[in-house]
Amino acid sequence: MASFFTIKGGKKLKGEIEVRGAKNAALKAFASAILFDKPITIKNVPEVEDIKRISEIIESGGGKVEHIRHGEYKIWGSITNHIIDPELAPRIRASIVLTGPILARLGKVRFPHPGGCVIGKRPIDVFIDGFRALGAKIKTEKNFYDVSARKLKGAKYVFKNVSVTGTETIMLAAVLAQGKTVLKNSACEPEITSLANFLNKCGANIKGAGTPEIEIEGVEKLKAETYVTIPDRIEAGTFAILAAATGSKIKINKMNPDHLDILWTMLEDMGVKVKLNKECVEIAPGKKLKPLDVKTHEYPGFPTDLQAPISTLLTQAEGQSIIHETIYEGRLFWTEELNRMGAHIAMCDPHRIVISGPSKLRGREIESPDIRAGMGLLAAALIAKGKTVLRNIYQVDRGYERIEERLQKIGADIKRK
Ligand code: EPZ
Repeated sequence: MASFFTIKGGKKLKGEIEVRGAKNAALKAFASAILFDKPITIKNVPEVEDIKRISEIIESGGGKVEHIRHGEYKIWGSITNHIIDPELAPRIRASIVLTGPILARLGKVRFPHPGGCVIGKRPIDVFIDGFRALGAKIKTEKNFYDVSARKLKGAKYVFKNVSVTGTETIMLAAVLAQGKTVLKNSACEPEITSLANFLNKCGANIKGAGTPEIEIEGVEKLKAETYVTIPDRIEAGTFAILAAATGSKIKINKMNPDHLDILWTMLEDMGVKVKLNKECVEIAPGKKLKPLDVKTHEYPGFPTDLQAPISTLLTQAEGQSIIHETIYEGRLFWTEELNRMGAHIAMCDPHRIVISGPSKLRGREIESPDIRAGMGLLAAALIAKGKTVLRNIYQVDRGYERIEERLQKIGADIKRK
């Protein structure tokens, strides 16, 4: 039987917690292994389900992933199969990032359309247009894309929509292309900068990552090096919000506070005490929680991946808050579960909710619809009176390493059953 969490709410958290490596940085580093002749080493990898899934796909294509020790992997990306396994691909949407390096190395890639999911439609037009701009031919047949180009050619490409994995995929494809690629309207997330820094360390020539305009001068070959995964800003931000929601004082270690400037501003506006240090942040309760208007936005705006936990926090603020989710059209429906726990949330349209607080939340049986909503519900369970059973925790395990053990250490009453 699938496991679930039981959580007894109402306990304050205390002490220190360490942030793991960023899943969404490590996944892209795994994909980059395909660009190399020799194996690359990746450190500070979170031990989460999505990492297992991407490893399975790399291995199904003929590569090899060796788990050296906790958080450390060696990856032989010398895959021979240009077809991304249609059974495995839908299990992890980030598998789309593999298409760039496979195309660059094998001259062709075949993959299934990833399809929509619970958080939204999630189209892939910017990937396809990007490949086409680099000179690839695209054929679509039933649910599959066949992309081919004997040698990709550098070009100017403007993203119609800012896309994190889109930027990473086209950047990975362009690294070994002939000539110069200029990507405009690129995403600026720290995971992209980190990937570019790693590739540059290996001999690539990428300028401007972390800004909307990225310039890539193609190189012949990359030299295998070690990638150290940056701290997970979403996990760090979630811990800060959990502390604020439970009125607790905690210290969050091994993180980069600069990646969450907007969150610190928002928490301070709410009345939460935030002390920033070089690689850690201390969170302490203020007098009362004030409401807030939050608009999710591409980096450095408020991350959509923190929308769920901050929505839960705002159920505890005195007054009306508005959340405007601008990135995904399906990412607010999970708040119906919060209402079932006693929150007062009105949905204006699929992109906007109004939260009236403070609300006394009550524990109950709930299900986690996606990875980040799972953490929003877990936050609610930690505040709620009584016991909550949180099901479908595979979603939480996709991105948060043994979360229950780590939260237990800072005083949460949470068990995996
Ligand atoms: C990345 O997804 C993350 N995933 C997501 O985290 C995160 O929520 C998202 O960025 C936004 O920050 C990974 O890094 C693996 P997008 P991504 O392409 O790249 C539209 C997690 O599991 N769009 O930046 O898939 C799209 O519909 C996940 O950790 C197009 O229109 O997101 C959306 O509205 C949950 N056409 C917007 O762009 C395209 O071709 C941003 O999506 C591609 C995207």
